[in-house]
Amino acid sequence: MIMEKDLNEIKFILKKYGQEHLLNGYDKLDESKKKTLLEQIETIDFELIKSLYNKTKEEIKNEKDEITPIEYLDKFKLNEEYKEYENLGKKAIKEGKLAAVTMAGGQGTRLGHSGPKGTYDIGLDSHKSLFELLSDGLKEEGAKYGVTIPWFIMTSRENNEETVAFFEKHKFFGYKKDVNIFFFKQGELPMVDTEGKILIDENGLVKKAADGHGGIYEALVKNGMTKKMRELGVEWVFIGGVDNCLVKMVDPVLMGIAIKKNVTVACKSIVKANPHEKVGVFCRRNGKPNVIEYSEITDEMAEAVDENGELLYGESHILCNLFNVSAIERMGATPLPYHSAFKKAKYIDKDGNLIVPESPNAYKFEAFLFDAFGEVDDMAILRVKREEEFAPVKNADSAGVDCPSTARKLYEKFYGLK
Ligand code: UD1
Repeated sequence: MIMEKDLNEIKFILKKYGQEHLLNGYDKLDESKKKTLLEQIETIDFELIKSLYNKTKEEIKNEKDEITPIEYLDKFKLNEEYKEYENLGKKAIKEGKLAAVTMAGGQGTRLGHSGPKGTYDIGLDSHKSLFELLSDGLKEEGAKYGVTIPWFIMTSRENNEETVAFFEKHKFFGYKKDVNIFFFKQGELPMVDTEGKILIDENGLVKKAADGHGGIYEALVKNGMTKKMRELGVEWVFIGGVDNCLVKMVDPVLMGIAIKKNVTVACKSIVKANPHEKVGVFCRRNGKPNVIEYSEITDEMAEAVDENGELLYGESHILCNLFNVSAIERMGATPLPYHSAFKKAKYIDKDGNLIVPESPNAYKFEAFLFDAFGEVDDMAILRVKREEEFAPVKNADSAGVDCPSTARKLYEKFYGLK
């Protein structure tokens, strides 16, 4: 039973933040939804939402940040150190110290795919899904070292059920659920309209959206995944996206570098295809490791070269990053800044009608994984080869870049399939 007293307290909070409309349809909800709605409202950080909304109206000003280039190592110019790093990494992998995390919280909207992105078939002759391609790579690599590398899959509320069902249908590709494959959900934040009002979804509940891949650290900690990793004896965690069918989650050289250099984060980069390629690049921001997004970098910086003619900001961030478990725990305890994205979002208006907008109408708030890089004193960056490690599937084929047909060709070429 919902107490009148609780309801009054909630109404008081909603009034304070100008969000009274959240209870507009309350009386028409069944008991269980009433309870859910009130629980949702009780957990909203209204101060945070208010400040995030206010920020959408300010111009983004990063000019005050001091952006400088960051050093990197080239995997193919390591000479005699290569073997040393590789041996260190191999030893740690054999000892079961590596786990892999795949961020699969997003839907394949840009791809025009209706299910979880990982279930997408890029059109190989085998018709394997992205999840199966990733699983193949991980199993094959593990077998080289005589281990099964534990695999953690980050889903979202929106796609969790469908993702787990997909894995179940495919017998978890040989993995064992809750033994060496684990699923956990990322966090969410309410969406707001252009007036700062929180939206109501088709079920009469608060409309929420995934909180970005930066939510991964908190989600790993809160869902007990870092604890699980420690129980399994894992020390290093590779975190990658689901949308790169050439992702190499097991790289002894990268691990060896992290161990030898005593850093808690080691990231892979590839050379930017051209100064204006739409990728984020590694940099230092106010002295700390970071990534500068393509939307943020000036033309002058994007085109600047060093004495060898190489781009000063040319190391692209490809979401292939290795973390020590302790770094994840630390990052999970530190709130990250949120970035806003203006999106199309269905909602119930004040008269109870479902509105399906044709153009963006609402803000979604997302944290970026690399904003946590500033938490560490230093990290290593390893430049690898694009054709060996990066075949992103972001857009529909009509876009012509980073799409299923380009990824398929890269995959087939790398594995000598055609
Ligand atoms: C991202 C990077 C960019 C990088 C590029 C490489 C940002 C802001 N930019 O761009 O620096 O060069 O990838 O491919 O990240 N995901 C979740 N939950 C979320 C959001 C994303 O799990 O809430 C996952 C997606 O499923 C995907 C990955 O994170 O696996 C990348 O997300 P996406 O939003 O597609 O990144 P991009 O904008 O392409």
